[in-house]
Amino acid sequence: MLIAPSILAADFLHLAKDVETINAYGDWIHLDIMDGSLVPNISFGFSVVDAVAKIAQKPMDVHLMIVHPEKYVERFAKTGASYISFHYEATLDETDTVIDLIHNFNVKAGLAINPDCPVEKIFPYLGKLDYVLVMSVFAGFGGQKFIPETFDRVRAVRKELERIGHNSLIQVDGGVTVQNAAEVAAAGVDVAVAGSAVFKAEDPCAAVAALRGCNPLP
Ligand code: DX5
Ligand code: ZN
Repeated sequence: MLIAPSILAADFLHLAKDVETINAYGDWIHLDIMDGSLVPNISFGFSVVDAVAKIAQKPMDVHLMIVHPEKYVERFAKTGASYISFHYEATLDETDTVIDLIHNFNVKAGLAINPDCPVEKIFPYLGKLDYVLVMSVFAGFGGQKFIPETFDRVRAVRKELERIGHNSLIQVDGGVTVQNAAEVAAAGVDVAVAGSAVFKAEDPCAAVAALRGCNPLP
């Protein structure tokens, strides 16, 4: 299981230090963009992502929790994002178009889904996706508790991916801790986002190593 530390929980007065931690220990750099409209919180925007891009040595994974993600795909692609995910709840019938737009910029496309939306809703798009982001908390805030129903939702997505013969990654985001990481990996998750568990820990480097240490043996 890959670990994508989320800088939402980082120390913004010493952001470079936390990005260096991810460069050394993490797999992807997760960047949460919230607009106060699709989700009730506002996080950060281009100036922060541009700054992170200057020192990023791991792929940047931009998680758009915004309405009209199509307006901003190009800007995030040009800043150097390797992965861009957006919410099904934000695009509905336009979902296909946004996936194509992300691919047009040679960026991997991910579709995120909140815990209260039936996973079957995104099945029609699975064949085009590079990753599926099954939210394990309601998008909008760090530091929430992992919703256990996520495990069944991950397994349902995996089953459908197998049925259609498509090899997309499955990512979860929210409430991943050193305590539940082994169970998350065992459920078939490929990429776990972790904010608080990394950056609120006394030793963020050790925390990433511990999350990774929970990998089941191959
Ligand atoms: C929540 C964000 C997450 C958040 C996770 O809406 O998408 O990426 O940073 O934070 P933790 O790991 O603290 O739950
Ligand atoms: Zn996120």
